Amino acid sequence: MELKNDLFLRACRREKTERTPIWIMRQAGRYLPEYRKIRQRYDFLTMIKTPEIASEVTIQPIEIIGVDAGIIFSDILVLPEAMGLKLYIDEGKGPRFEKHIQSEAEIDKLFIPDPTDKLKYVLDAIKLTKRNIDVPLIGFSGSPWTLFAYMVESESLKDFKNAKIFIYSKPELAHKLLEKISIAVADFLIAQIEYGADAVQIFDTWGGILGYDEFKEFSLKYIRIVVEKVKARFNGKVPIILFSKGTWQWIDEIINTGCDVISIDWTFDISEARKRSLDSVSIQGNLDPVVLLSEPDVVVREAVKILERYGEGDGHIFNLGHGILPETPVENVKILVQTVKSESQKYHKQNF
Ligand code: CP3
Repeated sequence: MELKNDLFLRACRREKTERTPIWIMRQAGRYLPEYRKIRQRYDFLTMIKTPEIASEVTIQPIEIIGVDAGIIFSDILVLPEAMGLKLYIDEGKGPRFEKHIQSEAEIDKLFIPDPTDKLKYVLDAIKLTKRNIDVPLIGFSGSPWTLFAYMVESESLKDFKNAKIFIYSKPELAHKLLEKISIAVADFLIAQIEYGADAVQIFDTWGGILGYDEFKEFSLKYIRIVVEKVKARFNGKVPIILFSKGTWQWIDEIINTGCDVISIDWTFDISEARKRSLDSVSIQGNLDPVVLLSEPDVVVREAVKILERYGEGDGHIFNLGHGILPETPVENVKILVQTVKSESQKYHKQNF
């Protein structure tokens, strides 16, 4: 369908908008009764691997909550699965790999998948969804480091200590694996855009567990490679959002990765992020997801505070600082979206 509302894309490009657009990380999910109803009938992997179902749940928050963009219903772990690591669901805990990468032989066995073959179900879900929505659709991938962390770590999915031991003790092997993952990530993002994604987001969810040198060497370097490849393929025209969690102390480097939008978590001041960016990138964020578990007047107060902090002008995309929590009341999410839609207009007045 043709885009009726392109506020999100204009904000990504720092163009003029009449208000601040909003979407929510993990907006398709368990806080929605309509999602839970489908989820009762199918397991998570069946949902993401069946384009009709994936598309239906992608559209749910657009219709129910009124967000300004969709994000395709999938998961960052589908890419390592396509590379050869079998995925299963540990009910109550989440997706897990049957085996983890430890040796060079295991790295050599991994494929760089052709997304139009092994990940066709994601691309078909994108194509189908684009036929039925009139807001932009976001495709995504994990960052090479975040995917590496899940591919190597077998025990501690909170601190990823085995993945960190791997980079400290076998740096050359780590680079070999990260190079392979980076090619796969870039190919996958490019394919998602070719099938209709209007923008893509890179989730560097675990960047913040690294030290400064390791962040530069094992995360940032590969994000840059991915960004460069995707930018080159589309002449820089398709916006790339980078969400790197817990890494605001390195925000200057993050701003300089070549991405169009940086998505910040709630531990940083959005006005400072904007200042540091010199308005060279757009800023997405950064409400603490826990605010949505409070009373409605707190939701309004905290949303207004972020709009005020960002201040006048364009280039702000409202979002949470991380994914929405499953126990979030839907009513609070609706209040958040309405608040951003109405209260942000005054910060864009100079445009109209
Ligand atoms: O944002 C969206 O609505 C799109 C869909 C989306 C999902 N996962 C669906 C999902 C996206 C963008 C992701 C990204 C993702 N997946 C990340 C990076 C972003 C982040 O939140 O940090 C990570 C680290 C994963 C891996 C993953 N998937 C974990 C650790 C878990 C278990 C924890 C949990 O939230 O259940 C998942 C499962 C998952 N991915 C669910 C959904 C809706 C829950 C599935 C269910 O049981 O219904």
